[in-house]
Amino acid sequence: MTDLIKLIQERHSSRGQFDPKKIIPEDKLKMILEAARWAPTAHNMQNFDIIVIDDKKVIETLGKIESIISEEFIRENFEQLSMSEEELKRKKVGILGTQFPLKWRDASKLDEAIMERDPTPLSYTIRGGNTILLIIYDRRKRAPASKGDVLGFLSLGCVMENIWLTAQSLGVSMHIMSAFGVVQKELKKILNIPEYMELGFACKLGYPVSETKYLRVRRDIESFTHHNEFGKKWLV
Ligand SMILES: Cc1cc2nc3c(=O)[nH]c(=O)nc-3n(C[C@H](O)[C@H](O)[C@H](O)COP(=O)(O)O)c2cc1C
Repeated sequence: MTDLIKLIQERHSSRGQFDPKKIIPEDKLKMILEAARWAPTAHNMQNFDIIVIDDKKVIETLGKIESIISEEFIRENFEQLSMSEEELKRKKVGILGTQFPLKWRDASKLDEAIMERDPTPLSYTIRGGNTILLIIYDRRKRAPASKGDVLGFLSLGCVMENIWLTAQSLGVSMHIMSAFGVVQKELKKILNIPEYMELGFACKLGYPVSETKYLRVRRDIESFTHHNEFGKKWLV
């Protein structure tokens, strides 16, 4: 049990450059897929397929797809930023702003940042990744009576966490790449994905060139747990 909690606490996002030459051994990749296979899903619908992309040429082709970051993203991203480690430690929610361009971190310059947006190729996100998983689902189906298929999406989240924890336990790093979500049309064309299948999430797996430690924060249990009724504190 202690080991499981430790694994959960140590699982983290690896946003840096990956080593393109370091290949994930096949048995490890198989174990990661096995973990996905056993994820709990609403009604046991197993509402996902996974495309494993490890062909250098295909990754290069994907890397050339360009997209412009949305205005929505820049504005809503700003709301989640802390401008220093001290601020992030205090807030315990959100992410450090220092990973974003200066103008993205300044409320008075957001309009300027939005005006100056340039197309960015996916290679910027892939950063040396040589193994990409696309978790796709059939949007024609949904978990029974689930409005907006919320239960279906939760199920994909379970797949994500199973993959992530298993990768972590095997010493394989992972990065979720939501940027793939905005270029679905291009992805579908390049990878022959049927029109009715949608991207749940994309991630890259592998080995970072250097593991940069960054501040990871979480709220305290008491701040999100209520006891028997909303607003009544659970005292740890
Ligand atoms: C659904 C989902 C989408 C995410 N998308 C991205 C992303 O596009 N880029 C990124 O760097 N991290 C992404 N993340 C990682 C989160 O930012 C990260 O899990 C969070 O900041 C906590 O950090 P940790 O994973 O190191 O604990 C995503 C995570 C989830 C669960």
